[in-house]
Amino acid sequence: MSDMPRSRALFERAIRLMPGGNTRTTVVTPPHPVYASHGSGCIIVDVEGQARLDFVNNHTSLIHGHAHPAIVAAVTAQLGRGTAFSMPTEAEIELAEVILARVRPLAQIRFTNSGTEARMMAVKAARAHTGRPRIAKFEGAYHGTYDYVEISLRPGPSDWGPGDAPRGVPTARGTPEKVREDVVVLPFNDAGASQRLIERHAGELAAVVVDPLPSQIALVPATLAFLGSLREVTRAHGILLISDEVMSFRLSYHGALAAMGVQPDLLCLGKIIGGGLPVGAVAGSSEVMAVFDPRGNGPAVPHGGTFNANTATMAAGQAAMELLTPAALDRLNAMGERLRREANAALAEIGVPGQVTGAGSLFRVHMTSRPLSDYRSAVATVPEREAYTRLYRYLLVHGIFITSTGLGCLSTPMSEAEVDAFIQVFRAALKEEALRVG
Ligand SMILES: Cc1ncc(COP(=O)(O)O)c(C=O)c1O
Repeated sequence: MSDMPRSRALFERAIRLMPGGNTRTTVVTPPHPVYASHGSGCIIVDVEGQARLDFVNNHTSLIHGHAHPAIVAAVTAQLGRGTAFSMPTEAEIELAEVILARVRPLAQIRFTNSGTEARMMAVKAARAHTGRPRIAKFEGAYHGTYDYVEISLRPGPSDWGPGDAPRGVPTARGTPEKVREDVVVLPFNDAGASQRLIERHAGELAAVVVDPLPSQIALVPATLAFLGSLREVTRAHGILLISDEVMSFRLSYHGALAAMGVQPDLLCLGKIIGGGLPVGAVAGSSEVMAVFDPRGNGPAVPHGGTFNANTATMAAGQAAMELLTPAALDRLNAMGERLRREANAALAEIGVPGQVTGAGSLFRVHMTSRPLSDYRSAVATVPEREAYTRLYRYLLVHGIFITSTGLGCLSTPMSEAEVDAFIQVFRAALKEEALRVG
C-alpha cells in the first residue's frame, strides 16, 4: 500500500486530529486506510484515482450504490426546502407508510439517526413495556455501540466460559459491572441451551435480541428451528423478541425474520432505509410502541433527537425504498446466490481452505473449511486472518473492494457482469495464495 501517497498523506494529517485518524473504528486498515474521493453506481474511486467495484457500499447501507439519480433528485429537491425543523413533516409520514406497508402486522415506527440508537430505543421500550430490567443477546452478535448490546461482542477463549452458558464479557473498558449483570448471553443457533437460559432468567428478561443473519457470527443464518424455539419460549414468558435487521432487512421485502415465518415484537432497522443518509428506526405493535407516546402523562420512554426524521433522510429513504421492489430484491438475491456458489466452487477447485457464507445479497469470505455455525466456530486463527489479509489486499489492488474483515454485498446498479468480475479476480487471488502455500 506504499504506492498510495495521497491516502498516506491524508492519514498523516488526520492522525494528528483524531485518535486513529478518523471517527469510525470499522474503516481503519493498516498501514493506513484508502481514502475515498467519490462514487457512482457500483464504482468507488479513491484519492489516487483508482476505481474499484464497490462490494462494501458503506457497510451494506447503499443498496442502490452511490449517487443513484432518483435518490439524488429526491434529496436535492428537499435540500432547497430545508433539512430539519422543530416541527414534524409529511416526509416522515411518507417514509413511515412505505416501511410499515412492508412490515405489517407491526403498525408503528419511530426514526432515529443510526442503527445503534434504534437498538437502544428498542431495549428501552422493552424494559418499559415489560417492567423487567434484563435483556438476552447472542455471543458475538453486533448490534451497534450501546453498552448493553455490546456485551460479549468479541470474547476470547480465556474468558468466554462454557459453550452452553457463555459468560457476559464487557467489550468497552469501563463498562459498569451492573451492565454486564443485566445481560444474559446466549449461544447462537443452539436452541436447547438458549431456551434453558431464557427460562432460567425469564422473570427478569424484558427482551431477547436476535439478528437472523449476524455479520459478526460468520454471517451464518439462524436456523428456522432455532428461531422458532426463540419465538415460542419468549412468547410463553411474556418476553419481547427484538429482531435486529439493521443489516439483514435487505434479505426480503417484508424483512428477514418475518420472511421465515417468525414474527418479532420489535424490529430494528437502519442502513438501506435511509437511502445513503444517516438513519435508524424501531417498529413494533401499537401496544408496545405506546411507551414512546408523549401525550397524556408524558412518555414512559422519552425519545428526542435533534435530527430524527430530518427531511433529507426521509426523502432519500422514501426514494430508496420505492426503488427496492420485490423484483429488484429477487434479482439481487439471485446474484448473491450465484456469487457465493461460484466463489465456493473456486475455493474447492483451487484447493485453498475457505468458504463464502451469507444469504441473499450479503456474503462473507472466511479462510477456513471448518464448519461455521456460531460465534466460537467463527473466530479466525492468526494464520486464517493473515491469509484473508493477503486476499483482501489482492482484491483491493485488482479493483475489487470488500471489507477488511471479509464482508461484502451487492447493489442494484450491479449486473451479472460485476459478479463475473468478482469471481474472476477472486479466482486469481486464490491461485496466488495456492502458489504461496505450495
Ligand atoms: C446488525 C446491526 N445492528 C446495529 C448496527 C449499528 O448501526 P449503526 O452503524 O447505524 O449505528 C449495525 C451496523 O453495522 C448492524 O449491522
